[in-house]
Amino acid sequence: MPRQQSLTYRINSFLLATLAVTAIGFTSLNKAPTQLIESTTTEFNAAEEVKNQYYKDLEKFVNQLDLLKEAVVSEQNNQTLRRRLLNAREQFKRCEYLLSYIDNNFTKQINGPTIRRAEGTASTGPVYYEPHGLQVMEEMIFGTDPINQSLILHEVATIRRLVEQMLASKIKIQNGHANSMNAVIWDALRMEIYRVESLGITGFDVPASLNAIPETISVLESMLQVISNYEGLSKERGVENLFKKGKKLLKRAISFCTKEIEFDTFDRMSFCRNHLHELGSWLNLMTRKLDFQLDLGVRPFKQEADHIFAEQFFNVDYFLRGYSDEKALLGKKLFFDPILSKGNTRSCATCHDPNMFFSDRVDRNLNLDSTQLLKRNTPTLYNAIWQTRQFYDSRVHNLEDQAFVVIHNEQEMAGNLNEAAVKLKEDSEYNEEFNRIYKRNPNPKDIGHAIASYVATLTSNDSRFDMYIRKETNSYSQEEKNGFNLFMGKAKCATCHFAPMFNGLVPPHFSETESENIGTPTSFDVPNQLDNDLGKYEFSKLEIHKSFFKTPSVRNSNMSAPMMHNGSFPNIRTVIEFYNNGGGAGQGANNPNQTLPKDSLGLTDGEIQELISFIRSLEDDSNR
Ligand code: HEC
Ligand code: HEC
Repeated sequence: MPRQQSLTYRINSFLLATLAVTAIGFTSLNKAPTQLIESTTTEFNAAEEVKNQYYKDLEKFVNQLDLLKEAVVSEQNNQTLRRRLLNAREQFKRCEYLLSYIDNNFTKQINGPTIRRAEGTASTGPVYYEPHGLQVMEEMIFGTDPINQSLILHEVATIRRLVEQMLASKIKIQNGHANSMNAVIWDALRMEIYRVESLGITGFDVPASLNAIPETISVLESMLQVISNYEGLSKERGVENLFKKGKKLLKRAISFCTKEIEFDTFDRMSFCRNHLHELGSWLNLMTRKLDFQLDLGVRPFKQEADHIFAEQFFNVDYFLRGYSDEKALLGKKLFFDPILSKGNTRSCATCHDPNMFFSDRVDRNLNLDSTQLLKRNTPTLYNAIWQTRQFYDSRVHNLEDQAFVVIHNEQEMAGNLNEAAVKLKEDSEYNEEFNRIYKRNPNPKDIGHAIASYVATLTSNDSRFDMYIRKETNSYSQEEKNGFNLFMGKAKCATCHFAPMFNGLVPPHFSETESENIGTPTSFDVPNQLDNDLGKYEFSKLEIHKSFFKTPSVRNSNMSAPMMHNGSFPNIRTVIEFYNNGGGAGQGANNPNQTLPKDSLGLTDGEIQELISFIRSLEDDSNR
């Protein structure tokens, strides 16, 4: 029997989380009170006020749900249902920053995607996640199918029960804890800015109503109310002017959204570049000035990065433990050295060629004795580090294990790491280096780690796009800006290819890499013929994973063409046309699990060209 993700489990984990605020690796609250610095009255009051506002907002959310329920029961017209659902959503958005910070999985029960998902494999026992909450209702109330009263009532009751549990488990701030609570609040605000930029403005959680910009306004208004509670403290710390600047930034951002409320035409580039990023820097600076800093351990992103497109946003230590520059240098040597393969015939660079963006320009490369095609297309290695899964079928978690798999693969290198270790030991130079760096003789584990360290240096985020959005240059064409706006909006690309890497790494926590099913065909010109590579299913053996592939980054995709897991698409234009027609299922393929909507995106030729220009503006191979 497959296990079912139970609501009770989630509630319990939430209770634990709120009582100790441990779920986020937040240890300061657990320290014995004697170790804590006594907070001042001003600090305590600020934390207390924000907490009270949060609970009031949750209560209002429950009220809005009741109004929705009432409209459903009394069979009011569709317009009323729609308005009431959106009211509830907008109210939810006011609490989202803290709710999801305290327990992200719990929040997914309230506002998670409408797709049934599974983790694990048939042999380990899968865990299924059933869709629940606001998005399930949104799909129905804004969709074309008739309203199913009992389903909506069930969803309302479920959310209501969850929120009530939360209301019952109030956070108690002891005096000594007030500043830890303040630090949590400010960290949560920053992460909410990440969320707005990478998910909120893309319509990720409102695919049917496209109510994204009004909801962004709710988020910003709630933030304004939160920070208002820190006025007194800012005065005490002598940063009153800085405090005022933040209020002004928020008001400016709100008025930008109010003027540009339409989903399709919202100027996302200006909003990110001129509003969200400024807010991010401000939050960072203010957090330091108010001394609300926490030791949060190793997270995927860096505490000091101002926004998601910052050059140093990601934290390599999270993705590869024990990274160092000298290990990377050793790894580089190994990467280009055929010593690791059987018969010393091939190196990693044979297929991942630095002159071809660490790919090979063929749809599928040949196996070791050149008799057969490999199963899959060679992906670029740029930004491969910023994933929690490797390979198209996600069968490997990290780069270290990945190197091990490739070297052993009969088709690719047919090497054996034990044999390689012996060869490296006999080579006095390698032997000396391994002993100096890893303090022991060459061995399979360290070989894998060294190569992974080198691959970790292959980052690519200094493209013209990056420099423009970071305000390092003003040179960026209108066509490219339009392309970014489409990618993040109307064309829905960023709901799977998430900013900032435009890959499957899910914001705003950036701790899991997703797979999706778009119905990739055997060849781009026969879109109704689903490829027989079943992707994630091939290792998980779960029906639900059939034809799911890890979402790759679109960065440098043109330079590592042909594209997709099987190299079946020659260029970006063919890929976008495929999406514009609803992917495989939209064009007659028998693909029941497709997560890409089947309907046409309605992109014009001009818009397709803009998307291409944007994707090409992401090219950067300065790092090789
Ligand atoms: C014969 C060609 C070939 C050689 C040699 C080769 N690779 Fe690959 N590499 C591939 C192919 C094909 C894939 C995709 C396989 C899949 O997804 O199932 C891949 C995938 C990867 C990935 C996963 C990237 C991602 O985003 O999922 C990494 C990392 C990688 N290779 C690194 C290496 C390293 C390091 C070496 C040397 C030890 C190496 N490769 C040697 C062809 C090759
Ligand atoms: C439902 C999720 C989803 C959406 C929406 C989506 N993609 Fe993808 N995309 C994927 C997945 C999954 C793959 C890999 C499929 C495969 O290998 O068979 C992919 C592959 C690609 C590739 C090939 C990358 C490479 O180097 O092989 C490009 C380019 C791309 N998508 C661009 C876009 C654009 C542009 C849009 C918007 C018009 C978009 N995607 C929308 C999930 C999605």
